[in-house]
Amino acid sequence: MSMLKFASLTSLAAGIMMAAGAAVADPITIKFSHVVAENTPKGQMAIKFQELVEEKLGDQVDVEVYPNSQLYGDDQVLEAMLLGDVQLAAPSLSKFQKYTDQLQVFDLPFLFEDMAAVERFQNSATGVQLLTSLQDKGLIGLGYLHNGLKQLSASEPLRVPEDAAGKKFRIQTSDVLAAQFKAIDAVPLKKPFSEVFILLQTQAIDGQENTYSNIYSQKFFEVQPYITESNHGLIDYMVVSSASFWNGLPEDVRPKVEAALKQALAYGNSIALKENQEAKQAIIDSGKSEIITLTPEQRQQWVEAMKPVWDQFADEIGQDVIDAAVASNEG
Ligand code: SIN
Repeated sequence: MSMLKFASLTSLAAGIMMAAGAAVADPITIKFSHVVAENTPKGQMAIKFQELVEEKLGDQVDVEVYPNSQLYGDDQVLEAMLLGDVQLAAPSLSKFQKYTDQLQVFDLPFLFEDMAAVERFQNSATGVQLLTSLQDKGLIGLGYLHNGLKQLSASEPLRVPEDAAGKKFRIQTSDVLAAQFKAIDAVPLKKPFSEVFILLQTQAIDGQENTYSNIYSQKFFEVQPYITESNHGLIDYMVVSSASFWNGLPEDVRPKVEAALKQALAYGNSIALKENQEAKQAIIDSGKSEIITLTPEQRQQWVEAMKPVWDQFADEIGQDVIDAAVASNEG
């Protein structure tokens, strides 16, 4: 065999080996852990992200989605992320208190008039800056995701704040939410999302606050005969990763993963309102829970009872951040 033929056969063999090697190389795994059901804005966004990554990166990146607290509850997921056990999560904005004070702004009662105001605030300079508020803890905020405005569900009808006095309400791990319920003489209990149904069913607690989407998909409406349409607060999310994982993604991979995430977030945000409206309708159709509409006077009583909480947290959150959020109601 001539030297030339031998050389080209050797390089052909090397090429085949490299190609085979590339084909069997381990994909980068992104474990996306969340606590809600698949038929929710977050559940749907996570599935969309998985599909888009597959479309853009084939078997280079493998997204594994774990819904319903299958992998971690929100109270452990960020620690797991910093240990490298999970790569993507979208906890509710109420669950970051251990990491930053500023995001507590999103928990202030009766802050946002509607989801359009929330959207404007999140897109404002202050909202974008808040995405970096976890930076010194090693976490990177990649974007906001909507769920919607919260309603109060209970075992008895709640029309005025006095109706809630003495009753036990499950809350997320947020001192602002604790203060909100204390302001109406109710008893707040910080409990994981995965335990809420059983706490309600066994009547260990009297009520909870959540979006229609969560009240429906977690079947809370089956064990809570009354839902007061208060729209008093917000459940939205921040999609986060650990800075070391995200920044360590290969240069040719990260932009495609980021593009997939941007598209998936746009999709999730576009369906959130409709998902909540459909969930509300499904609850009405079930006949299992009565939705109470407040008169303007009744609603005003809740506003007046809960709004003093703003002053309690103004120093921690920053008055400038609160003012920017209030300004987003202007349109
Ligand atoms: C979620 O929507 O991710 C959970 C909210 C909650 O804990 O109530």
